[in-house]
This record gives sequence, structure tokens and C-alpha cells, in this order.
Amino acid sequence: MRVCVVGSGAREHALAHVLARTADVVVTPGNAGMAPPITVADDVSVEEIEADLYVIGPEAPLVAGLADSLRGAGKTVLGPGADGALLEGSKAFMKEVLQAAAVPTARFATFDALESAAAFDYLETLPGPWVIKTDGLAAGKGVLVARTVEEARADVTAKLSGSSFGEAGRTVVIEEGLDGEECSLLVLCDGTRAVPLVPAQDFKRIGDGDLGPNTGGMGAYAPMSRVRRDDVDRIMDTAVLPLVEELRRRGIDYRGVLYAGLMLTAEGPKVIEYNVRFGDPEAQVVIPLLESDVAALLHATASGDLGSVGPPSFSRQSAVSVVLASAGYPEQPRTGDPIEGLLKSGQSVAVVEGATVYHAGTRRHGTGGPFYTAGGRVLCVTALAPTLAEARRRAYEAAAPIEWEGMQMRHDIASAAAGASPVGAGEGAR
Ligand code: AMP
Ligand code: GLY
Repeated sequence: MRVCVVGSGAREHALAHVLARTADVVVTPGNAGMAPPITVADDVSVEEIEADLYVIGPEAPLVAGLADSLRGAGKTVLGPGADGALLEGSKAFMKEVLQAAAVPTARFATFDALESAAAFDYLETLPGPWVIKTDGLAAGKGVLVARTVEEARADVTAKLSGSSFGEAGRTVVIEEGLDGEECSLLVLCDGTRAVPLVPAQDFKRIGDGDLGPNTGGMGAYAPMSRVRRDDVDRIMDTAVLPLVEELRRRGIDYRGVLYAGLMLTAEGPKVIEYNVRFGDPEAQVVIPLLESDVAALLHATASGDLGSVGPPSFSRQSAVSVVLASAGYPEQPRTGDPIEGLLKSGQSVAVVEGATVYHAGTRRHGTGGPFYTAGGRVLCVTALAPTLAEARRRAYEAAAPIEWEGMQMRHDIASAAAGASPVGAGEGAR
């Protein structure tokens, strides 16, 4: 089978790496760290690439209808059409669908630029903390969790006036703040059937101890052992299957990944959001743990035929990913810094068993030269091992020699779950 992966991040690098176990893989536009057997096609359009399966990584092309145009040309595509992708493209639409499907989620209301007085009144009806979100896509950065009503009001004003996030912010969703641990459940949906992958945890804030602004994700681990098999069944029954049914009722033939972002509250799991693709960095920990033929599994999903393959089987190992980000990320990432500590292959000079360096925002001149930073999230060091503690240790050991000016890395990825303290000076990472 020949698979075309669309995207250029560490998520697409991990997908391509694992798909290449059983398939010919071409990635467009790809990135500088992708090497044979993966083929990179950065100078042609997706439509010009012949493949048996197209896997669309990021949300933006899905929201823009790339899956529809490929399907229109008779291709088999993993990823929803623009109708299903609106779940991620508009938080207001997502909330409305969740409500119609009776999926447990935070209380919320939606306001546009002419409704700031009503928005202020609504803030008073919630106990706090308050969560203010832009309606449109903002790469995970359009969300503020406000501790005081004054802070909430100021953010509503800034977003509705268009002074922050421009048009994407001119409609806001105001939500009650939920308390608990977060969990990402990635589910493969073939239009009617839905099968969960292993639960993962993402670390969204830039700084150790969950401090600082939200990012696209600074690290992840899987499986999340506190979410047991029966918890996953409950999430499927209360939060996923009713959504799939509601999408079908609306005539949406959803074939792709449903990514449920959940808060494990004292009252049970509640949905924070749905995304319409693999999470990044969740994919980097979930996909490498699959023992099934991933190309066959994704092809069956895209073909509306999940019944033809068995349930996905997972290795009993654990996986940890640590993201290395540029100076200034997430606000104003600086690019063009030379990266130290990588081999010509793009892997870490510390050759660590079970560890792989997935590239995201890197670039190089020619194939033999040094790598430079070229984006916010630059590299994602992932390691697998028989235990979570060992996977974490390996990931930080492989990350340790990698450095550039102003590089940012969290030191506490999977620390609490692995019963370990954050890595400090001398223990694997600077
Ligand atoms: P979102 O873009 O909706 O995924 O939100 C980004 C992050 O903001 C989430 O991963 C949570 O950490 C936080 N967040 C969003 N909504 C809520 C909520 N209702 N209660 C508490 N935290 C939230
Ligand atoms: N890791 C969060 C996301 O992919 O949106």
C-alpha cells in the first residue's frame, strides 16, 4: 500500500515512521528530519500524488475542505470533510452539537461583538474560574482561564474588539472552568463505528508545573494508567458514541480521528473540546505503541470498514514525548538558530534504546549540513520502554545533548504519573 501523509510536524513524522513499517510512505510538504524509507514531496500538490490512502494531519486543511476535494477525485481519505471538521473550526458549533447529543461538557454561552453587555452579565452567573475562548482556530492559543471576573471581562473585551486574535476572536465562547486531570482520547471513526486508541496525557502549558501560557502541547505520555479499560468504555458510551450518532443524524459521514479532550472531574469525565485529527504530541506517543498494521487500520477507517479489521492491538510498553521549542514560543518564536546535538540522520547524538527524535520546525541547507530551528515547536523526542519511568528517563536522556540558544523544554513531562521528580541539572537535561 502507498500512503500519502499531509503535514510537516512531529505528528506527521511519527505517523510516517510507523506507517513505513508496512507501507510505502510519501509526506507532503514534510520536514527536514524525514529520511528514507520515507519520501518527502515538498514541490507538488497533494492532488498530484498517487496513493491508496491519504492521511491529513493538521486541522487547517481539513477545515478548508481538502478531504472533500480528494474524495471528489475518488481518493480514500482519513480525515473528515469540511462539515465534520467544523467541530474543530468553530467551538460554538462543537458546543451546540455536544449539547444536542447530551454529551457531558462545561456550561457555556456564545457571544458576538455586539453582545459584550450580555457576555458580562453571563460571567456573573458562573462561579468561576471562567474560561474565555475564541470561536475560530487559534492553534491552541486562544483560550484564557481567568481567576477573577475582572480578568475575564478584560479578555472578553480584547477578543470581541478584534484586538487579540483578529476575526477568529470576534465570537467568544464563555465556559465554566472545570477542575481535574486532563486526558486525550483519540478515537478512529469510520462513519458508523468508533474504536478508541490508548488514553494519553498532554502537557499544554509552556512551563514546568503547568505555569505560563497555553501552547500546542509541550509533551505527552501514554497510556494513562489511571484511566482504566472501564473508564474508556464509559467515555465511549457517554461522550463519543452519542456524538457519532448525532453527526450521522446531521448527515455527516465522519471518517477520521475524533480527538476527545476530556477533564476527569469529580462528577465523571466531561468533554472540554473535540478536535478532528490526531493530537500533537499525543500521536507521537499513541501511534508508536500500536502493534497492529497501522496502514491497514487507517485504510479500513477511511473506507468505512473498521469491521473488516480486528480491534487495534497495543504493545504493553509506555511512551513519553518531550517537545523542544524555540525561544519566544508560543508568543513569538525565534527561528534560524543552529541546533547542536543532532547526528546527520537528525537523531540525537545520545543513541538511547527505544528513543526517536521526530522533527517539526527544522530546516537544513542540503542533506548533509546542520539543522536550524524553523518554527515554534522544533523537535519531539519520544521514547518507548517497558515502564513509564524508564520511557521518561530515556526520552530525557536522548534530549539532553540537544541544544540551541533559548531552547525551551519542560522538565516534568510524565513525572507525577511515573512517580519521579522533574529532571534537573545533571539528570538527563539542562
Ligand atoms: P481548548 O482549546 O478548548 O482545548 O483549551 C485549551 C486548554 O484550556 C485545555 O486543554 C485546558 O487546559 C484549558 N481549558 C479549556 N476549557 C476549559 C474548561 N472549561 N475548564 C478548565 N480548563 C479548560
Ligand atoms: N495537543 C493538543 C492538540 O493537538 O491540539
